Amino acid sequence: MFRALLLEKTADDVTCRVVDLDDDRLPDGNVTIAVDYSTLNYKDALAITNTSPIVRAWPMVPGVDLAGVVEASADDRYAPGDRVVLNGWEIGETRWGGLTTHTRVDADWLVHLPDAISTRQAMAIGTAGYTAMLCVLALEEHDVSPEQGPVVVTGAAGGVGSVAIAILSGLGHEVHAVTGRADEQGDYLRALGAAEIIDRATLTDPPRPLGRATWSGGIDAVGGTILANVLSMTKPHGCVAACGLVQSMDLPTSVAPFILRGVALAGVNSVYEPVERRRQAWSRLASDLDPDRLESMIGEIGLTDVTDVAPSFLDGSVKGRIVVDVRR
Ligand SMILES: NC(=O)c1ccc[n+]([C@@H]2O[C@H](COP(=O)([O-])OP(=O)(O)OC[C@H]3O[C@@H](n4cnc5c(N)ncnc54)[C@H](OP(=O)(O)O)[C@@H]3O)[C@@H](O)[C@H]2O)c1
Repeated sequence: MFRALLLEKTADDVTCRVVDLDDDRLPDGNVTIAVDYSTLNYKDALAITNTSPIVRAWPMVPGVDLAGVVEASADDRYAPGDRVVLNGWEIGETRWGGLTTHTRVDADWLVHLPDAISTRQAMAIGTAGYTAMLCVLALEEHDVSPEQGPVVVTGAAGGVGSVAIAILSGLGHEVHAVTGRADEQGDYLRALGAAEIIDRATLTDPPRPLGRATWSGGIDAVGGTILANVLSMTKPHGCVAACGLVQSMDLPTSVAPFILRGVALAGVNSVYEPVERRRQAWSRLASDLDPDRLESMIGEIGLTDVTDVAPSFLDGSVKGRIVVDVRR
């Protein structure tokens, strides 16, 4: 038997409950994993609350991330006892996901965890933090370096934002954090390494084609007018890595930042990144993310708490990262 959170579609509703299932319900795959921890991301909250059509196969075990230990493997790259992490590849969307005590997956989706990262820390990082690292890699590939001036992070107190601030400040960047909760979360963001806190209300009006050139680069998790303002305020030859749409899917900008300042907009999609890129990101997370700062982001819950906590992502009240201990 294994225990999982199960989303089921009925004629006029979607139910979500913790259930015990026979092992013959384990999904197809050549590696069996005992999951230690999963996590909640914004996308998981959309799935669990049935707010957006994230789930495309029913019934579904949600959770786009998992970290655990290999129990059995028919693939010689993995052996019992190996510690592994899985992010994306449509788990929790079209294939059963991480909010479970056991699962079976395709070996091609897995990454061995670096020694420095525990399975709990891996899920404190989760897709949000792994995506933040992919965004940092994109900035580096566009030659954004600390000497060129401050960088900006939007959605600062959320999962992507928190990890992005901790990594960038650890690398020596002066980080400006854009938040809607400056009073409530200012101290938290400064402790993560933010040098300046910016009220997001200052970036919600439509931007001028070119604003004051302020940032050498940025990581954006929100889209909409905030991303448009960030682009118009990016210095010549800077780069903004965009990964999210919490404010809006729209991007009301002009070509001015691109053709007059040579600004680059780097899109990041973590779900289908090739395994080599994943290994690179996890290796950099092991070396460049301060474990104490990571710990300060964590709220830990059990599997049975998930349905109560998920809605808090949708009203923007979650801080940092939520780790799920799937055994309780
Ligand atoms: N492309 C990818 O591969 C990928 C991977 C991971 C995540 N994402 C996306 O990235 C986004 C952020 O994910 P997350 O896990 O960091 O979510 P999260 O933990 O819920 O954080 C989102 C943050 O955005 C800010 N925010 C909330 N409502 C807002 C609004 N109306 N306007 C502007 N800002 C608002 C809040 O920060 P403040 O309170 O500080 O303002 C909130 O904490 C989501 O859209 C998610 O789907 C994409």
